[in-house]
Amino acid sequence: MAKSAADMEKIVALCKRRGFIFQSSEIYGGIGGFWDYGPLGCELKRNIKDAWWNDMVRNPPPGPGGVEYQMVGVDCSIIMNPRVWEASGHVGGFSDPMVDDKETKQRFRADQLQSVHFRQPEDHEGLFQRLGAMYRNELYSTTIPIATIVATSASEAVSILEGNEKKMIRGFERKGPFELDEDGLTYCAPAVNRTGNEGWLDVYPVSVDTLQRLHDKIPSPFSGKAGSLTAPREFNLMFQTHVGALQDAASVAYLRPETAQGIFANFKNVLDTSRVKIPFGIAQIGKAFRNEINPRNFTFRSREFEQMEIEFFCKPDTSRSWYEFWRNVRLKWYESLGIKSDKLRPREQGPDELAHYSDACTDIEYLFPFADEPQELEGVAHRGCFDLSQHGKFAKGKDDAFAVLDEDTRERFVPHVIEPSAGVDRFALAVITEAYTFDETRASPEFMRFHPRLAPVKAAVFPLVAKDGLPEIAEPIYRAIKKEFPCQYDAKQSIGKRYARMDEAGTPFCFTIDGQTREDGTVTVRDRDDASQIRIDKSRCLEYVRDKLPLSS
Ligand code: GAP
Repeated sequence: MAKSAADMEKIVALCKRRGFIFQSSEIYGGIGGFWDYGPLGCELKRNIKDAWWNDMVRNPPPGPGGVEYQMVGVDCSIIMNPRVWEASGHVGGFSDPMVDDKETKQRFRADQLQSVHFRQPEDHEGLFQRLGAMYRNELYSTTIPIATIVATSASEAVSILEGNEKKMIRGFERKGPFELDEDGLTYCAPAVNRTGNEGWLDVYPVSVDTLQRLHDKIPSPFSGKAGSLTAPREFNLMFQTHVGALQDAASVAYLRPETAQGIFANFKNVLDTSRVKIPFGIAQIGKAFRNEINPRNFTFRSREFEQMEIEFFCKPDTSRSWYEFWRNVRLKWYESLGIKSDKLRPREQGPDELAHYSDACTDIEYLFPFADEPQELEGVAHRGCFDLSQHGKFAKGKDDAFAVLDEDTRERFVPHVIEPSAGVDRFALAVITEAYTFDETRASPEFMRFHPRLAPVKAAVFPLVAKDGLPEIAEPIYRAIKKEFPCQYDAKQSIGKRYARMDEAGTPFCFTIDGQTREDGTVTVRDRDDASQIRIDKSRCLEYVRDKLPLSS
């Protein structure tokens, strides 16, 4: 069944109700783009990071052709010498074009503006014949729209528009549904204007170039009035701060926008202090900060988030096979943790999308319920020798300062880098989305089908009633399981309500101690996914959880 925006609302509500994710500083009205993880959410995130560290760093799969390699970790500071960000290109280039509304003081990304046009048949006829499917680009780069909407795609703009048409496009009446046109970009619906002329409402993306030229004529997406939008201006996404008592240009520093640069800056330290040899990888998990212009889609695009990054150093002539290796390893890792392959896709970036230093990059994408197209969970990039050469140049004055010796050829070379870079929060959101299940035939219709490795709580122990000697049997079972696995004990409420709570938390196994336990020493084990129950000896509860929970994928 295809998931919908309604599912996303239910998922967000469950996340708050059950303590997975809260809005940051909610008691003060929140702060855009920042999120807090509650008791269940922080266990889930910890399990994700532990699974990644275990599977990629402590126990990585054999390389191409079974070759052995080493993986080590670092944990670097968030604030680094600002020269790091000059070398990496973030000071000069890590920016988005942005537009301000001078009247309402609101701001949006210039590449996230959609326009609504009223097209009459005569516009269509002549231009369409002359320019084919490209005609709207030509037409709408010079005509002023009747309204604009901030949205990442025309389809999102249509869903904002529908139901708000009286307010947003006063005087125009839609006469049919919006449908995607053959250009794959425009949504069109039949309509009439205020004088009764028939035509089409077109919802079409505004290009940054068009905004540059027509910003003072285009109606604001916030007030609907023209004349208040600035031209697009570059806006650096790094958060700035000052180090030390003086707040001047010399004390400016940045919160890191990625964990990767801490790894590059420590390449030589790691090489000199641990017995690693090329090929090897350095991994890091940690916070990153980006002053995103439009944080959106729950935690998907946040201003503070966590990354799990690997910089894998190899010889230039082996880099292509390592690139393919990591792309496959990372894709399979998501599948092994319960992300269904029909929602997951590797998408090789086209030449126009690649960063100037990158030879190749595959985005591993997941189809979230809030989008029509799969969205990036992780990028696996072939970065060539860009980063080590840049740091060599900026820190030591020569771009081969971090070259290493090839023991076969006795030649020095700057290692090439493959970078699998994943977002913890994006994967956590994918895991939550994937786990969310609604089955109205069950007593507790909403439940979370987490992969057992990721489930925040692995087991629960319930005495059926809080008397008759049942708690005395249940408590030692609970204490034994809790030494090894997150486990909860609950003796209150009806057993159905207790199961429902555990189902919403995604707890795979519930052990219930009942009257029969006193007679034959057995307890029931209830399976979260099919609600089936079996009886096992009470001495086997911990062993049961151990057997069912794989420690690696
Ligand atoms: N070192 C390379 C790098 O940082 P990126 O594609 O900008 O590459 C890597 O980021 C991953 O970090 C993304 O695939 C995504 O999972 C996560 N990420 C990036 N920006 C994010 C944001 N604003 N909110 C949440 N996660 C984000």
